[in-house]
Amino acid sequence: MDSILVTGNGPLNGEIPIAGAKNACLTLMPATLLSEEPLTLTNAPRLSDIRTMTTLLQSLGAEVSSLQDGKVLAMSSHDLTSHKADYDIVRKMRASILVLGPMLARDGQAVVSLPGGCAIGARPVDLHLTALEALGAEMELKDGYVHAKAPGGLKGGIIEFPFVSVGATENALMAATLAKGTTVIRTAAREPEIVDLADCLRAMGAQIEGDGTSEITIQGVDRLHGATHPVVTDRIELGTYMLAPAICGGEVELLGGRIDLLQAFIEKLDAAGVHVQETPRGLKVAQRNGRVNAVDVVTEPFPGFPTDLQAQMMALMCTANGVSVLEEKIFENRFMHAPELIRMGAQIDVHGGTATVTGVERLKGAPVMATDLRASVSLILAGLAAGGETVVSRVYHLDRGYEHVVSKLSGVGAKIERIKGQ
Ligand code: EPZ
Repeated sequence: MDSILVTGNGPLNGEIPIAGAKNACLTLMPATLLSEEPLTLTNAPRLSDIRTMTTLLQSLGAEVSSLQDGKVLAMSSHDLTSHKADYDIVRKMRASILVLGPMLARDGQAVVSLPGGCAIGARPVDLHLTALEALGAEMELKDGYVHAKAPGGLKGGIIEFPFVSVGATENALMAATLAKGTTVIRTAAREPEIVDLADCLRAMGAQIEGDGTSEITIQGVDRLHGATHPVVTDRIELGTYMLAPAICGGEVELLGGRIDLLQAFIEKLDAAGVHVQETPRGLKVAQRNGRVNAVDVVTEPFPGFPTDLQAQMMALMCTANGVSVLEEKIFENRFMHAPELIRMGAQIDVHGGTATVTGVERLKGAPVMATDLRASVSLILAGLAAGGETVVSRVYHLDRGYEHVVSKLSGVGAKIERIKGQ
């Protein structure tokens, strides 16, 4: 298994291009199942999760061609040859559950393995199933698989989520586009990735209103046609790299960055004393006056502070002036980066869903282990600011969500290299 060696090397300066959003692409790709005509995605990120979704769609009979070094995904699911999403693919990536809604809407049948939990929590899919049942689907759980049927096709209905679920909103939204009649989704997720999916579905002929708010209304149509759609900028990659100059000092321009994607996060950076300004090409982040101020963080569904940036923000707070309280309210076990940061000299006290961080002058480089995607990059950020060398092992987690992290960071002066595993 590869690892990454980071050596604290002072302030960073230059520019980092931001890729298309992993979490948008992973829901846009299954949308190809909704139409017999080609769907082409541009600005796609080059990530292992995208390759996993490609394999899954191909196992169902879809054609997926990765063009222009992976930035363009040309897909066509004219003839589905299978309706079964196998456990060995689904267990690798929870987002595989997102083929359930489109397959049901398209062919009235789907067999999808339950994803199983992952490091950050049990992550059940009960809300996905109840949402599709509200559209007339019959669900049966057998041998670890969801057997879903909608013999006469899906019918529009009212879906009331008890709390926000991004994936369940995406499954319901995709399924409703071909359901007969009107569907209303309440307590819908408002993430930019939902709006991006709705934009793509509208380009395919879907009739959707209210995306980006908590109530989405969909008028079902008989069929969807092909389209070409650009994947929205990855706000989590953006926020992650904004924290690099924040924790190391210096000035970095994030190409393609947009303030509207990260309002709550940027407000916290501002309160911490990190200067963020819009430029014609994206966002510029500057940090010149030593340590940042400690700020408190509570993770919430969009437009609140993103849970996917909690680990990275914790790394910054480890070097802040003062005490910061971070509350993780989305997932039940998303502080696994804390013990690794403590190995680097951080002072963190975790009680249940709350982590109290007392900032220190300087972290010390150490060998640490990545436990999940966002934890892995939080350790890299800490290593950039620490004195000495940090070796982050199990970086396969990183490859799921960050393309070319070594070249992007070394491009702004970081001392970072990938060490091939034996
Ligand atoms: C999406 O996961 C993202 N993944 C996650 O990003 C992100 O952290 C999460 O949304 C929250 O923003 C993708 O988009 C591929 P949820 P998802 O359904 O859809 C519970 C990353 O690092 N829940 O909004 O799985 C669930 O356990 C990943 O890129 C149920 O109880 O998240 C969690 O506690 C990590 N039953 C909460 O809801 C369900 O049926 C929010 O989960 C579904 C979810």
